[in-house]
Amino acid sequence: MAALRLINPFMPGAGHRPPYLAGREGEKYEFRRLASQDVILENMILTGLRGVGKTVLLDEFKPIAQELGWIWIGADLSESASVSEERLVRRLLADLAVAASSIVVATEAVRAVGFEAPVTQHETTLNYDVLLVLYERTPGLVSDKLKAILEFVWEHLRGTGHRGLVFVYDEAQNLADHAEKEEYPLSVLLDVFQSIQRKKIPFLLVLTGLPTLFPKLVEARTFAERMFRVVFLRQLSQPASRDAIRKPIETEASALKLSDEVIEKIIALSAGYPYFIQFICREVFDSALVNLQAGRPPSIPVEEIIRKLDTDFFAGRWSRATDRQRDLLAVVAHLDNAADEFTTQEIVALAKKMLEKPFSSSHVTQMLVALGNAGLIYKNRHGRYSFAVPLLDQFIRRQAQNGG
Ligand SMILES: Nc1ncnc2c1ncn2[C@@H]1O[C@H](COP(=O)(O)OP(=O)(O)O)[C@@H](O)[C@H]1O
Ligand SMILES: [Mg+2]
Repeated sequence: MAALRLINPFMPGAGHRPPYLAGREGEKYEFRRLASQDVILENMILTGLRGVGKTVLLDEFKPIAQELGWIWIGADLSESASVSEERLVRRLLADLAVAASSIVVATEAVRAVGFEAPVTQHETTLNYDVLLVLYERTPGLVSDKLKAILEFVWEHLRGTGHRGLVFVYDEAQNLADHAEKEEYPLSVLLDVFQSIQRKKIPFLLVLTGLPTLFPKLVEARTFAERMFRVVFLRQLSQPASRDAIRKPIETEASALKLSDEVIEKIIALSAGYPYFIQFICREVFDSALVNLQAGRPPSIPVEEIIRKLDTDFFAGRWSRATDRQRDLLAVVAHLDNAADEFTTQEIVALAKKMLEKPFSSSHVTQMLVALGNAGLIYKNRHGRYSFAVPLLDQFIRRQAQNGG
């Protein structure tokens, strides 16, 4: 019993590095390919449902990029970095300063563009304040000014042995143009990168976000279609799921062993979704320890795990839907293709059979927009819909069964 490892290695939670990052070989290969471009023709979008492993995969890309000579900069856009052009500019300059602040330039070079440095000062570093002043003194539109600063920085950064900069933005679905406020941060970002990449400046853009991200970019600028290689992250394969479950306890010479049967059950319950794998394994590990100490074999407390998942993960999202929206979602959850893609027509047809008060087609379309804004549904580029939360269909069917 002394050798018993008591620390639970599993890590459910946004952005928490898993004890073992399983699978994703194809995605890493794809990133390596894009990071091997000398002239950037393709940037990367890493997209997928919440909890599928986008953020932790970015962490895996970072050393690959650095090994290939890139400087890795970027941020999480969950904060409102994306609401105005001004905020976007400050975001980009702050990130740029991380790479540029080690560069020392002759003060003359920045004085020439209007930066007021003391006459006695012969050298200046390109820190945030200097970049901001340079930006403000540059004439033109926001995008012209940004391009000028990016070019200026690259002029001084080339020759330092770096291959280029990778700008990495997580939760980039938050970027949006706001025509009513005349704020176009998303379009500015795309214009700026397209233009500097055309000038063969090696600044690679990597955007991560929910499946709404790519359609949004294309809507803002049609050329975005050609600018990005979209990598859609999905569930882990069976073997990768097995690794994600087994490796963390195997490597620790743990007294805990899960039978193949238990592992298969975890895979089935989680449907291979990384967040659910971590969540279920964390519970199974805890309960297995209790059993072990009592001399019982490990088992899966399925009922309890599901109940906990429902309250911890699903209930909050569900509670934001109105009664009528729930009726609609219940219909969707009972479609044969609920876990995949579905159409308005399919929903209308099944609603006729299921509900006393069915929905018209235009009503369904309208409600799907609202559910999209609430983050429960998303529309793909082919006009089909999917649940935006993994395994939401199962949760809804459970609710229906429990009369909830
Ligand atoms: N390939 C993987 N193998 C094992 N666990 C993973 C893997 N990818 C993600 N996870 C786990 O899944 C959870 C969600 O990952 P995260 O990167 O936050 O997802 P996303 O950014 O797509 O919402 C985390 O607990 C993480 O440790
Ligand atoms: Mg994330």
